[in-house]
Amino acid sequence: MDYFRIRGGTPLQGNIRISGAKNAALPILAATLLTRDVSSLSNVPHLNDVTTMVELLGALGAEVSVDETTMLQVSAAALTNQRAPYELVKTMRASILVMGPLLARFGAAEVSFPGGCAIGSRPVDLHLKGFEAMGAEIDVRDGYIVATTRDGLVGCDFTFETVTVGGTENLLMAAVLADGRTILRNAAREPEITDLVCFLRGMGADIAGDGSSTLTINGVSELKASHYRVMPDRIEAGTFLVAAAATRGRITLEGANAEHLGVVVDKLRDAGVSVLVEEGRITADMRSGRPKAVDLITAPYPGFPTDMQAQFTALNVIAEGEGQITETIFENRLMQAREMSRMGADIKIDGRTVIIRGREQINGAPVMASDLRASASLVIAGLAAVGETDIDRIYHIDRGYERIEEKLQSVGANIVRKSR
Ligand code: UD1
Repeated sequence: MDYFRIRGGTPLQGNIRISGAKNAALPILAATLLTRDVSSLSNVPHLNDVTTMVELLGALGAEVSVDETTMLQVSAAALTNQRAPYELVKTMRASILVMGPLLARFGAAEVSFPGGCAIGSRPVDLHLKGFEAMGAEIDVRDGYIVATTRDGLVGCDFTFETVTVGGTENLLMAAVLADGRTILRNAAREPEITDLVCFLRGMGADIAGDGSSTLTINGVSELKASHYRVMPDRIEAGTFLVAAAATRGRITLEGANAEHLGVVVDKLRDAGVSVLVEEGRITADMRSGRPKAVDLITAPYPGFPTDMQAQFTALNVIAEGEGQITETIFENRLMQAREMSRMGADIKIDGRTVIIRGREQINGAPVMASDLRASASLVIAGLAAVGETDIDRIYHIDRGYERIEEKLQSVGANIVRKSR
């Protein structure tokens, strides 16, 4: 199994190019099922989760190829079945995102029930309630969610009880080919939803309200071929900005979009980081001294992203003062805190809040990654620590960060991938 060996203590300096966003690429890949025409996608990151989604499209009968310019082409002209198998769904919950497109196009879909996962129970009940509101009948058989319709999906007026990114995406994709108008209220407003809307619009979908919490979709009879460039990954960008801050270095991100990073940049500035935003570039500079601890509470966009919470825990661990971080989106997403204690961090967990008293120095230790963003935070802690840190179970990080060790090496980090 692969692990990272990090020798910390070097300020990171240099430039990093940001990859395409995993959380935009996954729903967009699912949305290619909505048309018989060929969809061409660029800036799709090379990640294990993307490979899983491509395998899933293949299992449904789609043809996926990559041309010499790394443009990904998907042809879902002749799908052979509407069943997302357990073997793929169990490795990636986002597989549920094929349900909306399959229901929209064929009036039927079967997706293995996504189980619990390391960061809490993460149900899909709101996706299913939405499909029911659009006229689908939902059954659970042999561990599969089986959705059927009599005469296809019909538009509806649906209010999400909780803001859900995946739920919004799934219902949006279902609604674009439904009969009539759908209004989705209390919808998620994440930039990845807007990216999906832009892709769907390019295919001919009629959608209004993206970026707000009410989406209005007028169903159309078919969607067409389109070319689309996936947005840059705001969480990858945020992770490297925090790594620059925690190691008291200076990193410039190329191809990043600062508009998507509003609160994250605000919090970095609160921590004393000098952040310079230019067209397509963001620079974080912390060479002037030690960061200050910050307080934050996660919330749906435009609030502070849950996917950046663990990285800020790592920053607070070596910062000056005391900081409190509260996770409101997922239960059980504070597992990195215990691992950081093993590195000498002064951390207390109180329910969904971690209280961190910053230490001038933490020390390398063997630690274990528990989920994607927790792994990223342990990498940051390892880079900031004195001595050697081995991080086990880095398959989590390979799901969501493209060549992270190479990118970090290019800015001076001493990090190597090893196997045992
Ligand atoms: C997506 C992101 C993930 C991010 C999360 C929140 C992808 C592939 N993943 O996950 O990186 O951390 O948004 O920004 O884009 N919920 C329900 N019922 C449902 C659906 C969700 O109760 O049917 C709850 C969840 O348990 C959670 C909250 O709603 O407490 C938000 O979850 P959701 O926004 O759906 O997260 P994902 O789409 O799974």
